Amino acid sequence: MLGDGKKKSLSNFSINLSYKNILHIIQQKTSMKKILITGGAGFIGSHVVRLFVTKYPDYHIFNLDKLTYAGNLANLTDIENAPNYTFVRGDIVDADFINELFETHQFDGVIHLAAESHVDRSITEPMAFVMTNVVGTCNLLNAAKNTWKASGYEGKRFYHVSTDEVYGELHNPEDFFLETTPYDPRSPYSASKASSDHFVRAYGNTYKLPIVITNCSNNYGPNHFPEKLLPLMINNILHSKPLPVYGKGENVRDWLFVVDHARAIDTVYHTGKEGETYNIGGFNEWKNIDIVRLVCKTMDSKLGRPEGTSEQLITYVTDRAGHDLRYAIDATKIMNELGWKPSLQFEEGLEKTVDWFLNNQEWLDNITSGNYKEYYDKMYS
Ligand code: NAD
Ligand code: DAU
Repeated sequence: MLGDGKKKSLSNFSINLSYKNILHIIQQKTSMKKILITGGAGFIGSHVVRLFVTKYPDYHIFNLDKLTYAGNLANLTDIENAPNYTFVRGDIVDADFINELFETHQFDGVIHLAAESHVDRSITEPMAFVMTNVVGTCNLLNAAKNTWKASGYEGKRFYHVSTDEVYGELHNPEDFFLETTPYDPRSPYSASKASSDHFVRAYGNTYKLPIVITNCSNNYGPNHFPEKLLPLMINNILHSKPLPVYGKGENVRDWLFVVDHARAIDTVYHTGKEGETYNIGGFNEWKNIDIVRLVCKTMDSKLGRPEGTSEQLITYVTDRAGHDLRYAIDATKIMNELGWKPSLQFEEGLEKTVDWFLNNQEWLDNITSGNYKEYYDKMYS
């Protein structure tokens, strides 16, 4: 037995390692579920990883992420040493690597979030979207199919996280996207996501792979990468920089707090029906210009600036090419069939978000001082 002094001299690293080794042995002896979450270092993925690691100590969560410009392990420092969590750096486009990973770990489930996710980048670099979103998804489908064919599909699940943008755009204010709305993607990003959705359904139909898909509206919240509308505005207000609103600011998006999306993913992963699609959204539509004004007002109040100060920074800029007018999700199916509903009102979610960014300016500065600066200058010059 170790005396007290010796115990104290062990480093955290060796304690964690041996703990993980013991856990690994227990895992092999018991039926502890192994779940692969892809893109877990990104915005939404990090909230999903945190929820699963903390809520399900009897699952082992593997977070597979390439750590592109959008992946950030600083999003996960609070759970990085959890005994039921392992980070794997890797690229879903690399088929050999993916096949080996599945063979080694024999995952019971996959929650697939890894993607190139920014519409503006898809306009300038469409092939990156084809590779990760289409080819990468197919690599995961193949690996799951081949591994599970041998062990049997019982208790397995391939969950593909998709977007409302696959449905195209809405013009009539009374229309909503339903699960049955025909696909009509209009940007390279949404076309790549639509394509990946089709492949996932095709593997479900052809190989009977146990799949489920969700299509969610715009997320917002802590850890949102500052190339996207809300964190970009928050960051620019902080630095009194112009607030670039595309076109006339008339485009409409339906906003959902990211933790509520993670909760929905948990619900669908565990209780969604095999082969089904569920739309996820907050019934919370905002015109861009109105939401930017609300961010200005919230920031002025938090920063102790006179009301109206930040609104003066609003600058209308050239519209996004092919800019979709309106997205609006009808989330009745997931609410009625699975009992999920958003937990937060938008105003409360926005306050929480602004507070998080104000309390985590180092996180923001670390991103905006790196390659992001180059992207921003090119995009908004
Ligand atoms: P994000 O860009 O913040 O994160 C994507 C993550 O995927 C990053 O960590 C990145 O490093 C990783 N990744 C990218 N390419 C990879 C590759 N080739 N191999 C392995 N990892 C790779 O994206 P997000 O906003 O968190 O979106 C996550 C998922 O949810 C995406 O599939 C997106 O289409 C979908 N979605 C997003 C929203 C939204 O509002 N952000 C809404 C609906 C659906
Ligand atoms: O609807 C779900 C989708 O929401 C996700 O699938 C995507 O991954 C996610 O990026 C998001 O796409 P959008 O294009 O809607 O989000 P973005 O934050 O880029 O833009 C929101 C709206 O704000 C859109 O109408 C464009 C506009 N906008 C955006 C930026 C970055 C501006 O007016 N100015 C800007 O600087």
